[in-house]
Amino acid sequence: MLAKLLVAGLFVSAVVSGVTTRSADCVGTIASLSDVASAQECSTVNIEGFTVPAGEGFTLSLVDGATVNLRGDVLFGNLSWAGPLFTISGNDITFNGNGYRFDGGGPFYWDGLGSNGGITKPRPMLKIKMSGKLSNLYVVNSPAQTFSVSNPGPLVISSVTVDDSQGNYPNSQSNGLAAGHNTDGFDVSTTDLVIENSTVKNQDDCIAINEGSNIVFTNNVCSGGHGISIGSITSDHSVSGVVISNNHIMNEQQAIRIKTDAVASNSTVSNITYIGNTATNLTKFGVLIDQSYPSTLGVPGAGVLISDINFIGAESSISVASGADRVAVNCAVGGCLGTWDWSSLKVSGGKAGPINNFTGIDGFTQ
Ligand SMILES: *[C@@H]1O[C@H](CO)[C@@H](O)[C@H](O)[C@H]1NC(C)=O
Ligand SMILES: *[C@@H]1O[C@H](CO)[C@@H](O)[C@H](O)[C@H]1NC(C)=O
Ligand SMILES: *[C@@H]1O[C@H](CO)[C@@H](O)[C@H](O)[C@H]1NC(C)=O
Ligand SMILES: *[C@@H]1O[C@H](CO)[C@@H](O)[C@H](O)[C@H]1NC(C)=O
Ligand SMILES: *[C@@H]1O[C@H](CO)[C@@H](O)[C@H](O)[C@H]1NC(C)=O
Ligand SMILES: *[C@@H]1O[C@H](CO)[C@@H](O)[C@H](O)[C@H]1NC(C)=O
Repeated sequence: MLAKLLVAGLFVSAVVSGVTTRSADCVGTIASLSDVASAQECSTVNIEGFTVPAGEGFTLSLVDGATVNLRGDVLFGNLSWAGPLFTISGNDITFNGNGYRFDGGGPFYWDGLGSNGGITKPRPMLKIKMSGKLSNLYVVNSPAQTFSVSNPGPLVISSVTVDDSQGNYPNSQSNGLAAGHNTDGFDVSTTDLVIENSTVKNQDDCIAINEGSNIVFTNNVCSGGHGISIGSITSDHSVSGVVISNNHIMNEQQAIRIKTDAVASNSTVSNITYIGNTATNLTKFGVLIDQSYPSTLGVPGAGVLISDINFIGAESSISVASGADRVAVNCAVGGCLGTWDWSSLKVSGGKAGPINNFTGIDGFTQ
């Protein structure tokens, strides 16, 4: 009986994988949206440069193990709609951007209000639901949030550039505000993710980790935005097992931030490790840990427990702008727990910030 079942099982899987292999053993080419349906059945997919029609999304649903090669720039037509502009899903995918661009047409949408107001902006620009490896992609001018990452298995994102730096300046639609707004680099709710050797120039979080575990953010450069963030954390979410190492952060509001919603409940942030990060010209805070989001240093709530936040290993060296707070920690009573080792944190410039309702920080004095 057992032998029969095993044989039947082997037979079925052999047939299934045989069929999959035969049908996918082809090279698909995409030069317009009408090519997608057939090309995405192939194990190799080449994307030629083309313009995606305004108001339409480019959605790739790939066979397991597929390789995607970008061979030209992809532009997205301009129209106010909800997006996303690009969605990719599949297991064990290799996506080679080869240095080509995805251009979201940002200046068409930017009005200084991002996703908080003004016209509807397609967001996120890129929705990543693949495992495997995504590399060498150049993304410019995202209408609002750039990458949303929710990989179904281990994923490495490397050598990706997000360049929304044109949005640092006002335009004719932004009433004197920086035109780009809410242009988060990477919004992450996931497990088993590495983002490395990448660059983000934007006007919001370089990365915002909202949920998940086993996440590594290493050797990246962030400028113009709001720094490297855990949160904001809402109810029923936990973040744990995050390593943030060897990043360089410059000209941002803060370098390192953990923000939890004042009214959230049943959530945790734990085991976050900062190693060897350097930062210069932070205009608001060097390090900000705040349980009062969306306020800054407002009345904190204890519904998101924060524990095991450590600056260890190679020194993390942070230099804040004059007028900025070096370190601010705003915990509710009982909201921040345990002992945190901050012996590798060095912060200079500006002024000491407040540290409220928590005495567990070890190895650091402002
Ligand atoms: C969308 O508008 C922006 C700003 O005017 C422009 O840079 C971009 O090239 C436009 N995109 C397309 C596909 O025409
Ligand atoms: C990332 O950068 C590090 C240090 O420069 C280098 O050793 C590593 O090979 C790079 N990784 C990739 C995938 O390019
Ligand atoms: C608490 O949050 C977890 C997810 O982190 C969820 O599975 C659980 O149902 C929540 N508990 C309550 C009482 O809402
Ligand atoms: C903390 O996170 C690190 C890195 O993700 C992991 O290796 C380690 O096991 C975690 N520690 C605990 C106590 O969960
Ligand atoms: C510091 O950063 C701010 C905000 O990004 C920027 O406006 C300013 O020019 C920077 N200053 C220096 C000295 O780089
Ligand atoms: C914690 O610290 C803040 C700032 O000093 C204070 O307003 C708050 O009342 C304190 N207590 C609690 C329970 O949050």
